[in-house]
Amino acid sequence: MYYIGVDLGTSAVKLLLMDADGKILNVVSREYPLLFPHPGWSEQHPEDWIRETMAGIKELTSGCDRSQVAGIGCGGQMHGLVVLDAEDRVIRPAILWNDGRTEEETAWLNTEIGKNRLSELTANIAFAGFTAPKLLWMKKQEPENFARIRKIMLPKDYINYCLTGVHACDYSDASGMLLLDVKNKCWSKEMLEICGVQEKQMPKLFESFDCIGTLLPEAAKELGLREDVKVVAGAGDNAAAAVGTGVVGEGGCNISLGTSGTIFISSEHFGVDPNNALHSFAHADGGYHLMGCMLSAASCNKWFCEDILKTADYAAEQKDITEEKLGCNRVFFLPYLMGERSPINDVNARGTFTGLSMDSSRSDMMQAVLEGVAFAIRDSLEVARSLGLDIRKSRICGGGAKSPLWRTIMANVCSLELEQIESEEGPGYGGAMLAAVACGEFASVQDAADKLVRVVATVKPDPAITARYEAQYQKFRRIYPAMKAIFPGLNA
Ligand code: XUL
Repeated sequence: MYYIGVDLGTSAVKLLLMDADGKILNVVSREYPLLFPHPGWSEQHPEDWIRETMAGIKELTSGCDRSQVAGIGCGGQMHGLVVLDAEDRVIRPAILWNDGRTEEETAWLNTEIGKNRLSELTANIAFAGFTAPKLLWMKKQEPENFARIRKIMLPKDYINYCLTGVHACDYSDASGMLLLDVKNKCWSKEMLEICGVQEKQMPKLFESFDCIGTLLPEAAKELGLREDVKVVAGAGDNAAAAVGTGVVGEGGCNISLGTSGTIFISSEHFGVDPNNALHSFAHADGGYHLMGCMLSAASCNKWFCEDILKTADYAAEQKDITEEKLGCNRVFFLPYLMGERSPINDVNARGTFTGLSMDSSRSDMMQAVLEGVAFAIRDSLEVARSLGLDIRKSRICGGGAKSPLWRTIMANVCSLELEQIESEEGPGYGGAMLAAVACGEFASVQDAADKLVRVVATVKPDPAITARYEAQYQKFRRIYPAMKAIFPGLNA
């Protein structure tokens, strides 16, 4: 049988077709627009997601025996607010995970409701990109739209709804709404009340590997697939990526260098960072995880190469950054192009180059961008280490991880052994694995990971480079605190 994995990303939807042995038979990617209607805002049209996903599934399966497709699993960008009216029509564009408009609502939640109470109710505090502050924003700024809401959901749930007609959400993705009691895996009545919504407006909750339904006849007809194809609840893209890289069960770690950058630590047990700098979310394997998320990771590289240097040849920009230069750069970059989430939680933070001099080169600046992202991931890693977690190795995935140089920088900045997986399609592969579990191909997510995920290469930190980067990281750490007070004025 075949399984379709859908990675509903921020720049594109990436789809893959996997057979029962975990072999990837085909991969398709289709882009859609990302809208920035105001500085710091970030929106997309759910209609674009579903149009490109449907077209992508048709393209993906065009050369195969479509009757062999048994299941579909989606990993999706998290936190985005999708609102539907009484006819299940989209009310307004989705407000995405990297949207910073809710500074006021986030501050209100963290001070008036209070971080302690929020953490008791949801295991997390408010961050601007989370879904609950967006509901408060909509209630205040767009009361007519707010009054029309019949269903609230997350991006991949909209895809699943269009495929099956079922309003569903899984625990991993629901964790990022600040409306879920993560520990007990149910909606928090108090949080729903605080946001002015009712439980009937929320989707039904499932484990990621649960089947939520089968294809609607019209969807099956359009796709040329059987009506009994199972659609699983799926997962937030980071939990799906962790499944796809085999980071399930106790104590695994995955770093993703996508549009966002995340460090994901899996656990069988529920746990909370006492300072809530790391998110405490449910995992797609039935367990839990801690996660640090930076808002601009591979997107810093894309921005610098494509928008500033006007080139798409990323490798050429990296070729002068030779090993002896690692840990010796005098230029530093703060990667906060969309503000920052973990661990500083500052929507006003912005990107900066620091330490430029007349002899600074284009390649020094390129190096600073790659290093700045690595240092910012290390910030979250340090929070995890401060909780007593002994993390020495990690899997790595995402577009940025394709660069051997960036992997070397990451390994040495973080002092981690980094393992690359045969399949580079983190969330899509995880989505297909979840579908295969629901169809009975594997006994559990752990079983699927044990049988399908293979490490193909490892980058080990080099003690000399790691020592140089240690000194560099200590310099990097002082830049944001020194600039923090300046940012709000710059944005005004
Ligand atoms: C995680 C987060 C991002 C998005 C990106 O908390 O906001 O990783 O899921 O797709």
